[in-house]
Amino acid sequence: MADKLFVKVASIRSYVIVVLICFLAFCSCESPDGMPQRIALDGYFDPDTQSYAFVIPNLKPVSGVAGLSAKDCAVCHQTIYKEWQNTTHASALRDIQFQSEITKPDSPKWLCLNCHTPLQNQRERIITHLQDNDVFKPVSVANPHYDPALEQEAITCATCHIRMDEDSGESYIIGPNGSGNSPHPVRQDRSFLRNMCQRCHNPQGEGLTPNLICWFYTTDELAEGQPDLKEKFGREMDCVDCHMPEKQRLVADIYTNLPEQQVNQHHWTGSGIPKWYEGYDSLLSRGYKSGLDVAFNFTEATDDSLPLTVLLTNARAGHYLPSGDPERFLLAVASLHDGAGKLIAQDKYRIGQDWVWNPARKMGDNRLKQGETRRWRPAILVEKDDNKTLEIIVLHVRLNTNTAKYIIAAKNVDEKLFANGQHYVSNAIDYYPFASFIYKATINLESRQTTIASSEELIELSKLEKGKSLDERLY
Ligand code: HEC
Ligand code: HEC
Ligand code: HEC
Ligand code: HEC
Ligand code: HEC
Repeated sequence: MADKLFVKVASIRSYVIVVLICFLAFCSCESPDGMPQRIALDGYFDPDTQSYAFVIPNLKPVSGVAGLSAKDCAVCHQTIYKEWQNTTHASALRDIQFQSEITKPDSPKWLCLNCHTPLQNQRERIITHLQDNDVFKPVSVANPHYDPALEQEAITCATCHIRMDEDSGESYIIGPNGSGNSPHPVRQDRSFLRNMCQRCHNPQGEGLTPNLICWFYTTDELAEGQPDLKEKFGREMDCVDCHMPEKQRLVADIYTNLPEQQVNQHHWTGSGIPKWYEGYDSLLSRGYKSGLDVAFNFTEATDDSLPLTVLLTNARAGHYLPSGDPERFLLAVASLHDGAGKLIAQDKYRIGQDWVWNPARKMGDNRLKQGETRRWRPAILVEKDDNKTLEIIVLHVRLNTNTAKYIIAAKNVDEKLFANGQHYVSNAIDYYPFASFIYKATINLESRQTTIASSEELIELSKLEKGKSLDERLY
């Protein structure tokens, strides 16, 4: 019975492939560089190269494990489970911005969910084909294996670790070492796990709609930085090397008879802008460190002025900084305050991409490449022997306040996907961090005494943004 069903799912998948190829045969789309481009059809709907167009077909639980849920893995892999729980992967569905955006008529919700909840078991409906070859009109049937609790887990253990044997229909765990000590079947395939990131962080092919811009090139950016990284680390680096650093411990906590090993931590801290304000409290213990180094100096000029230079270096990210979502940017702010603390001058510098929408078109990109240093000369007059205070701040911004207004205005949030979601979206300023402080220096120009905020202080500053009206924010 189960086997028959899986055959059926597989054939539905082929059907979707055929239908989508028909759709694409008539479609010419815009590339992220703004150049109109005809989609190359050869191999386009090969699940290996265009994987985001598909969900991962319905899976059965792996023998030896009660179910597909992360909670089922947690019985033995407690530590990894706890790490994963706090990640953006685990909250890729319970994400205020995501839930707001998928209410928009130009979001093909089913495609968005293919990366944010990529298992068929997480989806109520199976998409069988498109009406009128229109990506906004998916036709679907009910999914008998739909599991709403699993849906809430978004990018969960099974997403990366469980696959099904096409012949037997049996599921197995994909692991890096092929341990013979596990109660569940394991197939060793380290490179599968390490390449998995690309499916979503560097999807192949073209976006299927003019505004499908959740579209990233983090692996390509990394490839550009490899020669330098090789010099720094003695070898090429991949996503897992930096985002899942190893720690000596048990693979399965309750199996205390087995030896400890080098286990990859499952934190994926990234930008350190959590999805909920509560996330700030565990950020440092989860290994967060900003990729940016900041320095500044004054040139001694002949007059009384002290021209200020701020140096911004992508010191630790293998890819561009920022990477990922095109709306992210770094904002450096230099401010001069008089003796009474009153703001007298301010200048800002933005590092990021610049897009226009409908259709999506990239207008500019001044992000920091791996290892790159940018020199910024703020247009404020700093003078010698002044009783003024200079403040240099850098923020990592997820989205600016203008975009935030659109997020908050969304109606018809899908409460089935996101319990109490309309409340969270409408009150996003209380729940959703829009930016994090990543650097702050305060310089007393008279004494030249400089105070650099610690990581803990920066986190406290970031938490103070909670509830602040949008007009009061710097970005
Ligand atoms: C986004 C993909 C992804 C998700 C989600 C994920 N893992 Fe992993 N997991 C990996 C990668 C990558 C490795 C390490 C591969 C390597 O060693 O090269 C790994 C390694 C492991 C290992 C082997 C120990 C080690 O690190 O060598 C275990 C056990 C494991 N994961 C369990 C889990 C559990 C349990 C969950 C859910 C709570 C989970 N994983 C979620 C990608 C993922
Ligand atoms: C009943 C306990 C138990 C459960 C439940 C369990 N595991 Fe394991 N798992 C183990 C043990 C034991 C090992 C081997 C540990 C060792 O070799 O030190 C292991 C090993 C692994 C490995 C590493 C395999 C390798 O390449 O060496 C991965 C990955 C993994 N488990 C993932 C999962 C996932 C995902 C789930 C949930 C779907 C899960 N496990 C559920 C006990 C369990
Ligand atoms: C199935 C799709 C998918 C896969 C596979 C995947 N990711 Fe992600 N990843 C996402 C999504 C979606 C988010 C953001 C969720 C959100 O913001 O709501 C994310 C977030 C992240 C972040 C946090 C970014 C930040 O600053 O907020 C990091 C770091 C990351 N992923 C690294 C990895 C690595 C490393 C791998 C491979 C081991 C991987 N991802 C595999 C979809 C995926
Ligand atoms: C050499 C180490 C290194 C490698 C390799 C690396 N990253 Fe990162 N990544 C970082 C650091 C450090 C940050 C934090 C940057 C920051 O926000 O300050 C980061 C941030 C991110 C972010 C958040 C984006 C942002 O700037 O807001 C994502 C997403 C991400 N990485 C994904 C990946 C993926 C996917 C890969 C593999 C293709 C990868 N990273 C490889 C070090 C690395
Ligand atoms: C190809 C896979 C893929 C598809 C399709 C996809 N996303 Fe994403 N999405 C990601 C990844 C990977 C991230 C994490 C990038 C980062 O952290 O910067 C992400 C992050 C996000 C975020 C969080 C941004 C942030 O800065 O924290 C939102 C919101 C989002 N996606 C909305 C959507 C919407 C709406 C759609 C459909 C139009 C969609 N996504 C389709 C992969 C995808």
